[in-house]
Amino acid sequence: MVAVEPERAAFEPTLPGRYFHDPDIYAREQERIFGRMWVCVGRADAIPTEGEFMLIDLGGESVIVARGHDGAVRAFLNVCRHRGARLCTDAHGQAGRVFQCRYHAWSYGLDGRLVGTPNLARDDRLDRDAYGLLPVRLEVWEGLVWLNLDPDAAPLSAQLDPPIRTRFGGPETIARYRIGDLVVGRSIQYEIAANWKLVVDNFMECYHCGPVHPELVRLLPAFRQGTSYQGIVGEGTSFASDVDAFTLSGQGSRPRLPGLGPDDDRLYYGFVLWPNVFVNLLPDHVILHTLRPLGPERSHVVCDWLFDRADAGRAEFDPTDTVDIFDLVNRQDWEVCELTQLGMHSRAYDRGGLYVTNETHIAAFRDLVLSRLGEADSTRP
Ligand code: FES
Ligand SMILES: [Fe+2]
Repeated sequence: MVAVEPERAAFEPTLPGRYFHDPDIYAREQERIFGRMWVCVGRADAIPTEGEFMLIDLGGESVIVARGHDGAVRAFLNVCRHRGARLCTDAHGQAGRVFQCRYHAWSYGLDGRLVGTPNLARDDRLDRDAYGLLPVRLEVWEGLVWLNLDPDAAPLSAQLDPPIRTRFGGPETIARYRIGDLVVGRSIQYEIAANWKLVVDNFMECYHCGPVHPELVRLLPAFRQGTSYQGIVGEGTSFASDVDAFTLSGQGSRPRLPGLGPDDDRLYYGFVLWPNVFVNLLPDHVILHTLRPLGPERSHVVCDWLFDRADAGRAEFDPTDTVDIFDLVNRQDWEVCELTQLGMHSRAYDRGGLYVTNETHIAAFRDLVLSRLGEADSTRP
């Protein structure tokens, strides 16, 4: 076998195959990427009522995300401070006024304070203030809940602003879509037999769009050339001249989102908020993918189709036409991600592959992974 050395000036190397299946590398990613970066874990409107909670697995921890009596959403490690029992076991539920531990019935308010310690009520040697649930950093951006297990992490904006500025020059473009005001019209979950980084790489590349997504390139002909994003700040991708809506037929009559103007018509923007959110902006809806690693070779994606509240509230509202196109694109993408995963164990991919010209933004993701793992130069020849 002849090892092909990519020409560095034009072709950047990908990560070697072991980065996509090695359990040790996966464990380090859990600790250093998912345990230290801000990670999107879902939508705040998934727990709309006081006392409602959802459980999140993040960086090897179980985390409770709960809405308090004041309406605020907070996050705590799902561990009782007495003897360490897991507090909540339901993926989603209603806690009422307190979280009560199954073991010795200590109870915690929705703000995490220790409020009940049976038979120790008069024992003032127990400093209850010191035994509240351990909080996890939480911020909400455009309706999305982001967590960070690192108590010393910089605010979420320090992580989200740079990619938004790189793509749009400033936050205005994305702000006018008012994503946080939109509501979910349809949500589909997918499980993919591929490492999470293959799913990210695949979303950021459009070299595959022609062969894999014939229906998509029919709507967005620029994608046929294989470059969805050429580094032009603020540039969207135009619909084909005879296409009026992002649907399988290219036709549709959904109203434009309230914050947009005629200049936004017939344009698509796609970009990634590392490590785990894909954003797709369209004139009449927004599609968000939230990615979650399930293991070295398994990933989970929630795809939400978001619409204006008034549009989605109409009796005749039906998102099927636009869901169909991106559900198809999703399934086409997962298929090639799974085919690629199969090759990651082969000696043919021992030293990795290469990104084609114009894919420096994907190489930047590779570099982020390497620098977070503390291996910035390990794949260099
Ligand atoms: S372990 Fe939770 S109350 Fe004892
Ligand atoms: Fe794709």
